[in-house]
Amino acid sequence: MNTSTTINNNPIAFFDSGVGGLTVYSKFRHKLPNENCLYFGDTKHLPYGNKTKEELISYAKFILDFFAEQNVKAVVIACNTSSSAAYESIKNDYSFKIYPIIQSCAKILAELPISRLGIFATPATIKSGVYETEIKKYNPNMSIYPQSCHNWVDIVESKGQNEPKNIEIIKSDLENMLNNNPEKIVLGCTHYPYLTDVLSKFSSKELFIDPAEYFVDYIIKDLKSNNLLNNSNNSGSEKIYVSANPEQFKIAAEMFYHVDKTPILINN
Ligand code: DGL
Repeated sequence: MNTSTTINNNPIAFFDSGVGGLTVYSKFRHKLPNENCLYFGDTKHLPYGNKTKEELISYAKFILDFFAEQNVKAVVIACNTSSSAAYESIKNDYSFKIYPIIQSCAKILAELPISRLGIFATPATIKSGVYETEIKKYNPNMSIYPQSCHNWVDIVESKGQNEPKNIEIIKSDLENMLNNNPEKIVLGCTHYPYLTDVLSKFSSKELFIDPAEYFVDYIIKDLKSNNLLNNSNNSGSEKIYVSANPEQFKIAAEMFYHVDKTPILINN
């Protein structure tokens, strides 16, 4: 099939509002180090969680148009908020594959051997109801407990997770959720895995699910079945872009991923 000589070695691109998507990207890169990758952190519009659907669609379009110019073979929406608000509206507008985190992981979450599932996510993701809708497609009997976490993204981006006032915010949100007796809690925003250590101070680490694990396996399986994997043995290239504050991005990223070069600033 001629895809292998034409687009296999083109980049796969990831985006999020900031460093959150690196929780997905770092796992992907670890598993497939020969892939050429692009990453866009839309730091100018951060946080996405309090933006309107229309705003989120326009940010996603800008980023996907930018990726299209770079001949990507696929785009990973490493952002729950954008997956919930923008994916449906843009999914037919591009010729490359688009992988949205929520819709890609819903089946796996629905098939977990539990009946009570908590979801921590941004206000926009919770408002969309997409987690419940997608999971219930596969398992209508699962009880879902969605809860929005207001300042968590800012806490991560400012590296404030060890400040006492922020620990109190996280603890109180967690206590609220625990009143529902969930058997597992999905960290339904790609920034939240950065807070696992804080959350684990107040409950068992095993309670939390980072969907990035499932998501990356899903993407790799799908690339493989579509004959889209890079077929070179060389180590893949990497380009990281942001729409504001490149230096701050580099520092905030450090906990999950070492960014070698200062990200390239793109004005949107
Ligand atoms: N990390 C993103 C998500 O998964 C967006 C967080 C935000 O900017 O509010 O939802």
